[in-house]
Amino acid sequence: MKILVTGGAGYIGSHTCIALLNAGFTPIVFDNLSNSSTIALDRVTEITGKKITFIKGDVRDAEALDKVFNQHDIYAVIHFAGLKAVGESVEKPILYYDNNVSGSINLFSAMERNKITRVIFSSSATVYGDPATVPITEDFPTSTTNPYGGSKLIIEEVLRNIYTAHPEWNIALLRYFNPVGAHESGLIGEDPSDIPNNLMPYIAGVAVGKLKQLSVFGGDYDTIDGTGVRDYIHVVDLAKGHVKALQAFENKSVDNLYTVNLGTGKGYSVLEMVEAFKKASGKDIAYTITARRAGDIACCYADPSYAKHLIGWEANKGLQAMCDDTWKWQSNNPNGYKEVSNN
Ligand code: NAD
Ligand code: UFG
Repeated sequence: MKILVTGGAGYIGSHTCIALLNAGFTPIVFDNLSNSSTIALDRVTEITGKKITFIKGDVRDAEALDKVFNQHDIYAVIHFAGLKAVGESVEKPILYYDNNVSGSINLFSAMERNKITRVIFSSSATVYGDPATVPITEDFPTSTTNPYGGSKLIIEEVLRNIYTAHPEWNIALLRYFNPVGAHESGLIGEDPSDIPNNLMPYIAGVAVGKLKQLSVFGGDYDTIDGTGVRDYIHVVDLAKGHVKALQAFENKSVDNLYTVNLGTGKGYSVLEMVEAFKKASGKDIAYTITARRAGDIACCYADPSYAKHLIGWEANKGLQAMCDDTWKWQSNNPNGYKEVSNN
């Protein structure tokens, strides 16, 4: 069964391609490579022994999408393609709404034209804004403080509206918590094109000697040690969630539209992450506590029980594996995929 994976060359997409191949699906990757490299897909082939069909294209390009749907008998679409830097979205809201929202609408209309009615969408825990309590269940109110989060909320709403008009569509809204880690081979992982915005790649950059020290954004939150708490989830677990979501469509075991959290249910503070990474890497991680980052919240973690109940998915990998695998990727590929492409 062919699955169109938009953004499939990216961090979560490339790991999901492995999970799809392992489960007997055939991923067709459609990506404009704005934040990724085809080397990731070569590495997926190295890991799985299976070649992947790659199409360079932009989800805002209707003709390119029609061509893909004409050439391939697509069972479902997994829609990862999007820009994801919160800070950049505040500076460039038009770019974010155009890329993420217009791109998604263009994709959904191409699906409608070509009678493809199954879609899994990468949403985010950011849609919960600053939750009143934790753990977060799927029925919590949604809100946003930045255009990135705004784009996710709008796309979710567009999909809910599509379902109202076309209840025969199968739509899964997957709200990811904080994806970290890498494939256990150390061959693929997160490869930020610039100085990382997110905690884990920043810590890994300090450990490998590329970055001098970590700024811990805020030491006065009402948390275990004053630093921010998040629900970090191993990307390989997250990738498997997409396969479970697809299988739930196949088995007709879910409503035609559903929303689930993909998290572990456990929160770790920034300093706990630093300690765990120190242990995994054997390196010292220099850090300094600085001011809070605008827009950050104190604490965010999932109640993941609905995903287990509905699609039979739960995270299996713990913090140790998240740090070990990130370190393996980072230490084997200190410059991400770049080193290889310059050769
Ligand atoms: P990523 O940047 O590694 O992957 C996104 C991919 O989409 C990239 O390969 C990029 O080149 C491609 N892309 C972007 N715009 C495109 C367009 N217009 N047309 C075609 N391809 C395009 O990011 P990721 O971490 O793998 O995230 C995947 C999805 O999951 C995104 O939608 C992101 O918003 C969402 N998400 C990520 C996180 C996270 O922390 N990583 C958390 C929650 C949700
Ligand atoms: N942090 C630091 N220093 C850094 C980077 C982060 O102290 O250099 C702290 C943050 O203040 C926060 C925690 O580490 O307490 C995690 O921050 P990240 O930037 O890694 O992750 P966020 O929870 O802020 O946001 C991420 C993604 C969003 C997504 C959200 C929920 O960036 O896109 O998870 O899925 F929406």
